[in-house]
Amino acid sequence: MYSRIAGTGRYLPERILTNQDLEKMVDTTDEWIRDRTGIERRHIAAATQTTADLAEQAARRAMEAAGVTPADIDFIVVGTTTPDVVFPNVGCLLQERLGIHGCAAFSVEAACSGFIYALSIADRFVATGQARCALVIGAETLSRITDWSDRTTCVLFGDGAGAVVLKPADEPGIVSCHLGADGRYKDLLYHPYGPSRCPGPVFGDDAGAFIHMKGNEVFKVAVKTLEGLVEEALGANNLEHAAIDWLIPHQANLRIIQATARRLDMPMERVVLTLQDHGNTSAASIPMALDVAVRDGRVKRGDLLLLEGFGGGFTWGACLIRF
Ligand code: UT7
Repeated sequence: MYSRIAGTGRYLPERILTNQDLEKMVDTTDEWIRDRTGIERRHIAAATQTTADLAEQAARRAMEAAGVTPADIDFIVVGTTTPDVVFPNVGCLLQERLGIHGCAAFSVEAACSGFIYALSIADRFVATGQARCALVIGAETLSRITDWSDRTTCVLFGDGAGAVVLKPADEPGIVSCHLGADGRYKDLLYHPYGPSRCPGPVFGDDAGAFIHMKGNEVFKVAVKTLEGLVEEALGANNLEHAAIDWLIPHQANLRIIQATARRLDMPMERVVLTLQDHGNTSAASIPMALDVAVRDGRVKRGDLLLLEGFGGGFTWGACLIRF
């Protein structure tokens, strides 16, 4: 048995912050942001909106597209690094909102690779018959952990959520998933604090409670790792580059995406690009890009998709999918 994607959905908060808006907040220009990243605008959650709110909207749209109701859902996994609270996890908050009870509901913390990690877990449960209708979500409110006075990071990030419904199938579906991580790079991209490591004398530092990134170094490792990752996914299935219909990458930086596409000999017309509209939304970016391409008719049933992501940890992952 295999799993297949039965429906997709996404949600972006209403408020838009453009590059021009950022020019008034920090020493930057629209030209610099476009040239170096490809980003034009990002969406920012309202003060009262949390990650679970965004996740709920995306989940409801994915369920509608899949023709299922909350009562059908028997497994919930959410990729996020910006949960509403430490616990209950976002999966449980979402379960309560959907009015369903009893099924497994949890979140996975793997930064920008969170959705790929979540999808690979849900795939195993559906493919082995332990779940029959899984909700898989990537949702983030990165604006809450962004330093809006730091031009090197604040131009990059945004909020959003994407979701898919997975159901059993006789044929793949999810063809294969490939995950990896390397904690040696923990200091290149991180948020310094959590419940167990607080600012103050014990840990001897007082870095801002925001995302910290050595962008240039992250960039180099990302490009190299993603090149190896896409080759691994294709090699594991004896597939040539030309077999891929659509590359659906994590939307962090246009130049990273172009480098991966070049490695696959893939024209940019076969790459789903959405980062111009919402910036880097971490775990939410891949399912949102998938939903955009499904709803605008580019991705069709039977197409072979390569989803890939890379993020803090470092973590990375790819899923090869027959849609
Ligand atoms: O999603 C998880 C994975 N994350 C990523 O994949 C992000 C990877 N990194 C990147 O996307 C890029 O490294 C950035 C977009 C973050 C930065 O682009 P870059 O081409 O690597 O720029 P840089 O950091 O080397 O900085 C170049 C210059 C510097 O000035 P000097 O030292 O050359 O005078 C920066 O201070 O650009 C300056 N700079 C800016 N200038 C205007 C940095 N941020 C800005 C800014 N506006 N917002």
